[in-house]
This record gives sequence, C-alpha cells and structure tokens, in this order.
Amino acid sequence: MNVPNHVAIIMDGNGRWATKRGLKRSAGHLEGSKTLEKLAIHAQDMGVKVLSVYAFSCDNFKRDPEEVTYLMNLIVKYFNTKFEKIAKRGIKVLVSGRKTNLRPDVLEAIKNIEEKTKNNDKGILNICFNYGGQEEIIDASINLAKDINNGLDITTFTREDFYKYLYHDLPPIDLLIRTGGELRISNFMLYEMSYSEFYFTNTYFPDFNKSEFNKALFIYQNRDRRFGGLNASKNN
Ligand code: FPP
Repeated sequence: MNVPNHVAIIMDGNGRWATKRGLKRSAGHLEGSKTLEKLAIHAQDMGVKVLSVYAFSCDNFKRDPEEVTYLMNLIVKYFNTKFEKIAKRGIKVLVSGRKTNLRPDVLEAIKNIEEKTKNNDKGILNICFNYGGQEEIIDASINLAKDINNGLDITTFTREDFYKYLYHDLPPIDLLIRTGGELRISNFMLYEMSYSEFYFTNTYFPDFNKSEFNKALFIYQNRDRRFGGLNASKNN
C-alpha cells in the first residue's frame, strides 16, 4: 500500500458542528480534540509517519476573546493531561509556531509535552499552534540571514537545506486534508505543501473519523504524482 509519509489536516468545521447541535462553539473544539487524539493513533496504525494539524493560526487571535481563551485552556489541558495514549504509543509531539503572544501556562504546557515525548521515535504529531505559513517562511528567512551574516556559504543552497530553517525539519507533505467544506489552504504549511495532493471534504472535523481518514488515504493512492515530471507508463 502506498501510504503517505506526511499527512497534514486543516481541522475545520468545529464551530458549525456545535452550532448545528444547538451547542456553543467551544463544544465543537472539545469534540475536535477528541477526534484528533483518535486520529493521531489511527494514522500511526496506518503507517503514516508524520501527522501535522492546524490547531490555532496567528490570525485566530482575531476571534472573540472568549473563544481564544477556551482554545488556549484546551491546549493546556490536553498537553498536560490528555496526551497519555499518544505519548505511550511512542509518538513524538512537536509544536510549530511563534512563541510570542502566548500565556506563560501555554508556553509551559508546550515545553512539557515536547520534553515528555522528545525521545519517542514511532511517529510525529506536529501541532501547528500560533502558526502561519508565511510567518514560518519569514522566521526561517530571518534565521538564514543571520547564518549568512555569520559566513554561511549559500552558493549551493537547496530546497532541502531551507527545511532546516523551518520550525521543525519535517519531510514534505504528501497529503493535505481539509475538513469543513472550504476550498482554501488558509496560510497553512506553505513551504512544505509545494507538491502535496489535496483532499477536501464537507465533513466537519469532529465527525472526521477513522473511516473518513481511510477514504482520504484511498483517494491518495489513486493519484498520479509527477512532481513536475512525466509518468512513464501514461505518456509513452
Ligand atoms: C477551525 O474550525 C478550528 C479551529 C480554529 C481550532 C481547531 C482546534 C482543535 C481541533 C482542537 C485542537 C486541540 C488540541 C489538543 C491540539 P472553526 O472553529 O473555524 O469551525 P467553523 O468554520 O465551523 O466555524
């Protein structure tokens, strides 16, 4: 089976999932967190090595302060107490994003989960938090510029070399999934997504269960990835 090495998910539709049920938007985020826990384990079972998820964008600070606070508290709770199963499965949790504008307890929770799982080597769950794709490229470029100022020779600098300047040196994304019906990438992992296959579904994230995930994997397997080249069997 041709399993994508790196799958990324834009976890959209939590709010609408809740509103449809007459619940507060926060109930959708809570349910989405439960879905994420299950999916991280399932992705590992299916042979996916890296799962990246969009948990909070830099632009999400524009939301109602009550919702922002809820999401911050949720992250603290999950990182400090709820990721036991993920940690026990040998999955390393990484958090990608800016560390500015975050409360001390949020920074502490991020440090705790990264520290706790740092020696795990059976998969990676990369949580993009206070994250923006353009911001990641800017931050990487600033660090690269510093190295150039310190004498780094960039005459043979490659695409792969630039990955080392991103928040984490992860492999390129093979499959990008967006739940919730919108057809856009919303400033998510722009550099890493250059040749990824896209899968969009109307399913709201809290309902995106194992079988929905498998459906995306199945569609991926039937895609013809050419990376700008030609597929020999189809073009002769
Ligand atoms: C987008 O849906 C979702 C978010 C902005 C938050 C996603 C967060 C989680 C799934 C929780 C993550 C938790 C952990 C522990 C990492 P939306 O609220 O914009 O939905 P809508 O488009 O229906 O309003």
